[in-house]
Amino acid sequence: MRLVVVSNRVSAPDREGKIGVGGLAVALRAALRERGGIWFGWSGRVAAAPAEHPQIVQRGKVGYAVVDIAPIDRDEYYLGFANRALWPNMHYRLGLTQFSRAEFSGYMRVNRRFALALAAIIQPDDLVWVHDYHLIPFAAELRRLGITNRIGYFHHIPWPPIDVFGALPGSDDLLAALKAYDLVGVQTERDAGNLARSFAETPGGTPDAAPRIIALPIGIDTAAFRIAAQRAESNSVVARTMSELGARRLVIGVDRLDYSKGIVERLESFERFMISNPDRRGNVMLLQISPPSRSEVLEYEQLGRQTDETLGRINSTLGDPSWMPIRFVKRAYTHAVLAGLFRNAAVGLVTPMRDGMNLVAKEYVAAQRPDDPGVLVLSRFAGAAAQMREALIVNPFDKFEVAEAISTALLMPKDERIARWRVLFDGLCRQDIGWWTQSFVDALTGSANAAAP
Ligand code: F6P
Repeated sequence: MRLVVVSNRVSAPDREGKIGVGGLAVALRAALRERGGIWFGWSGRVAAAPAEHPQIVQRGKVGYAVVDIAPIDRDEYYLGFANRALWPNMHYRLGLTQFSRAEFSGYMRVNRRFALALAAIIQPDDLVWVHDYHLIPFAAELRRLGITNRIGYFHHIPWPPIDVFGALPGSDDLLAALKAYDLVGVQTERDAGNLARSFAETPGGTPDAAPRIIALPIGIDTAAFRIAAQRAESNSVVARTMSELGARRLVIGVDRLDYSKGIVERLESFERFMISNPDRRGNVMLLQISPPSRSEVLEYEQLGRQTDETLGRINSTLGDPSWMPIRFVKRAYTHAVLAGLFRNAAVGLVTPMRDGMNLVAKEYVAAQRPDDPGVLVLSRFAGAAAQMREALIVNPFDKFEVAEAISTALLMPKDERIARWRVLFDGLCRQDIGWWTQSFVDALTGSANAAAP
């Protein structure tokens, strides 16, 4: 059976083999690499008159089938309903959620257009696997076109409780659309419970009105990332950073510049740590790497300014001519560089205010040296916390608690670091990206027949 992966962003490798930002793109590429198949979605390009049919490029075992979208589609579908309404709502941020009917109908329209484009190349035995919140109505649109293939959906971000989700206009339509899938996957049992209750508690809903739902936490390519981290010892960016750092200990954070990631709160927690531990000044540094993301959305632009202000304030009040507490870099790095920096960091700070999974937490652990690993400080509101109990689990809303965890991590005896890391790493080897892909595909192929069109 051919696997057809569908996601908003398709990450075709460029000439140097670099890949796009975002854990999802990295994971899907790893998922398709061995098995092969088609990866369908938006090219990332905006065209005044986009072609109806996908452009297909074959690279190894994977065919990349992409379509452009019109400027209004980008505004209404991607920047609009997906990222101004669904994203904040699903990250429990009702106050940031902006709904517009025009954007909602743009979102539905683009899903219809994408479905039409895929329907033209789909084969009867293809297994279709749709990813993330941009494409919730995709299967319903395919069904309308008479497609009866097995279709699964994986929701990479949190599914909030119905009191939050139900406040979003259009939420009933989205729940109805989800029923067109044969299987719906979410990251955690909490998300699965929230989604199932959404079906049960929505006006006129019943528990048996839900599609089949499974909680299946996404993994990383643990073996490959570990090797990348070992090789990165000789990477020039990593080597220069480490030689400049000297004997100072490194605390690292890597996230897209997104309000859900708790970056400003993290900087302030690090400030709190410095204030509470003056003896640490001069010998610890936080390196925060945050490539800009969705900057045309106002909240993201504001976040950029807010991080600059917070960073300036902390560095200017706590730094001295020979040392700055925080180094903040707003650009993307290759996986090779990140793997090497993770390997050399004594603490991995992964403190989102809310996150579907967070693959940085997993990559940080995979990159560590078995005989001298660093410590992961992890938000209890990241999906990864349900699996990674041996991390130091924190509430990112409590800066004192995060500051204390940084201190505990830096003081943790080697034996304890090794014991915690071993359990975390074994978990990452057992439940890696191959396990995740295979488990979803098995569940989908074993699932009930597609609803009749
Ligand atoms: O799951 C998180 C996610 O929204 C992915 O769907 C997406 O590819 C990634 O973050 C990066 O965001 P964007 O595609 O908007 O740059």
